[in-house]
Amino acid sequence: MLYRDWKAEEAVKYTSSIAWDKEILDQVKLVLKAHVIELYLSNYISRDTAAKLVRAIESFREIPENYEDVHEAIEDYLLKVVGEEAGWVGFARSRNDHVATALRLKARDMLVDLLDDLLDLRSRLLERAERERETLFPVYTHFQPAQPSTFGHYLSYVEEELASRWSLGLATLKNLNRSPLGSGAIVGTNAKIDRAREARMLGFSEPIYNTIQAAGSRAELIDVAYFAASLMLVHSRVAEDLILLSSKFVDFVELPDSHVSTSSLMPQKRNAVTMEVLRSRTGLCIGRLTGAMASYKSLPSGYNLDLQEINPNYFDCLREASLATWIIGSALLNLKVKAKGLDPETLATDEAELLALKGEPYRKAYKRIAQNLRAGLFSPSISFNQSIEMKAVLGSPSPSGLGKALELQRSRLERDKQALESLKSSMNEGLASLRVMEDDLLQEGD
Ligand code: ARG
Repeated sequence: MLYRDWKAEEAVKYTSSIAWDKEILDQVKLVLKAHVIELYLSNYISRDTAAKLVRAIESFREIPENYEDVHEAIEDYLLKVVGEEAGWVGFARSRNDHVATALRLKARDMLVDLLDDLLDLRSRLLERAERERETLFPVYTHFQPAQPSTFGHYLSYVEEELASRWSLGLATLKNLNRSPLGSGAIVGTNAKIDRAREARMLGFSEPIYNTIQAAGSRAELIDVAYFAASLMLVHSRVAEDLILLSSKFVDFVELPDSHVSTSSLMPQKRNAVTMEVLRSRTGLCIGRLTGAMASYKSLPSGYNLDLQEINPNYFDCLREASLATWIIGSALLNLKVKAKGLDPETLATDEAELLALKGEPYRKAYKRIAQNLRAGLFSPSISFNQSIEMKAVLGSPSPSGLGKALELQRSRLERDKQALESLKSSMNEGLASLRVMEDDLLQEGD
């Protein structure tokens, strides 16, 4: 009977996270080293045992199959390499607090890289925006030509969106950067370990105060997936713009060759394939986020194995968002804007506003212009460039409106750079202190 044949190994395989644990191996080792050093510093194990354990943890490279997860595999490995003393690593810890810590470290690294990449992209977008302040560019609402603008104005728009996502990303990073380590399975441990010291060794800002949240929550990791998905929403809308603007129907933009591919049947085609894939991956990332939330929403507090199943989701979303950041950057920074006139009818609003500025109530002026348009009699009295120069408010495409916005955008970027640098240096200081302790232990053990 098939059902009776269900073997223990098969159940292990079904519930195992090994296939995916490879991704967090480095972080799991780091967390285990911090734990061992903490056991030594709080006088539960000898210096010699700590040194042996740290050395053995370092030598663990491959996760063998047939374990439930990396944590079991590594503990078993330590027992084989170091002997009975290795049994101390199981003291004052649980896989629950260790996996929660490793996941945060991994997400933290990826998030920092992504935020760095975004800073770089934002700075390049602002540079190009400065150079393209006079390049005519269509903007639209309802995808109908709206009013004259410039490519510089469009690039400043993208930077503004990215700056907004960036500040969400930084807040997400700060929330994520608190340590679950030492929270055990759910209520901590009877061992007098110092959670604040463990947090410092791993570069976290502080321990999470409550052990139930520390060992059993994934709220901050779901935030990471949300941040990644929301960033992709921005990228995906830009992708959509570029697909439309580069299409033969609109034909205002020429995408770099590396972003287009031709058709196997129709040799004239220049399909915006990177943009299409990005647009679709955005949908998949939203799926990852909602998948994680759906698995999460009904779990009782405390650890449940369901949590393991959503581990890949956070990182998949982050990876996609990083790729998308690079791809959108590459497209926006290398595309060519075609030197073409805009639709003269996009000057209609200016004409009505000019009348209003001379004293005619706007609605009356608007109606007159609308009648002219309908009768085919509309002929603008100003050029596109004049239209742009006339824009009077902050953030519009005029020299003063865009000039001021770009200046504000640059100083915000500088502030953001400093904020990330200072967060990075406090993380690195913590990790460096762990390395010093590790080296110290290993040297004497030699
Ligand atoms: N492999 C699990 C994860 O990735 C950690 C193990 C926790 N298992 C348990 N029975 N408490 O989340």
